[in-house]
Amino acid sequence: MNVLLVNGSPHAKGCTYTALEEVAKTLNTEGIETEIFQIGTKPLAGCIACKTCAQTGRCSFSDRVNDFLDLAKDADGFIFGSPVHYAAASGAITSFMDRVFYADLLSGRQSFYLKPAAAVVSARRAGTTATFDQLNKYFTISEMPIIASRYWNMVHGATPEDVKKDLEGLQTMRVLARNMAWFLKCKEAGRKAGIQLPVKEENIFTNFIRE
Ligand SMILES: Cc1cc2nc3c(=O)[nH]c(=O)nc-3n(C[C@H](O)[C@H](O)[C@H](O)COP(=O)(O)O)c2cc1C
Repeated sequence: MNVLLVNGSPHAKGCTYTALEEVAKTLNTEGIETEIFQIGTKPLAGCIACKTCAQTGRCSFSDRVNDFLDLAKDADGFIFGSPVHYAAASGAITSFMDRVFYADLLSGRQSFYLKPAAAVVSARRAGTTATFDQLNKYFTISEMPIIASRYWNMVHGATPEDVKKDLEGLQTMRVLARNMAWFLKCKEAGRKAGIQLPVKEENIFTNFIRE
């Protein structure tokens, strides 16, 4: 089993990474493989709603979004991390997740269906819960069970050294990791015991028009 952790910060080894690393290390001790995926520092455009992905299963922009889509279908669980930028997720991770989740939806790839997910956020001071709420919305529209910890998944700091001193924040990351490992093992045990996936309905899109 493996979990893909996305670092939505421009800092490859910054505060968000330090939190993700704590999650990854704990998942590893639970026998779960991990990969930390960097969205990097190259520009990531927002979704232009061209809907090319519906035909090709890939985004029309050739960038980290397509690299991630290729990995996502084989991942069993996901952690998306973001620094707080102006009390919201970073612009880059927002563009990235808009295109990842839209391409997955329109193409019918189903890379996220019933796979556990969690958001992790890092701030110097404020805007953490708004960012956490923002990221969780991608999961709940995609039928992804959200894994919880014993606090909202945040760390505080302007540098990785600060984050290492946020002992409660780091413990929140370890609890999150163990809860995700437990969920993944239960899901696998259920599959082996023959528990069927839920019955699927045809999608209904009413756009609030009733006739
Ligand atoms: C453009 C920008 C906006 C930021 N806005 C906030 C903010 O609203 N609240 C806050 O507490 N920190 C804010 N910060 C600080 C970062 O969120 C914080 O230092 C974070 O831990 C950095 O994580 P990173 O090292 O993974 O990039 C901002 C930083 C930048 C670059």
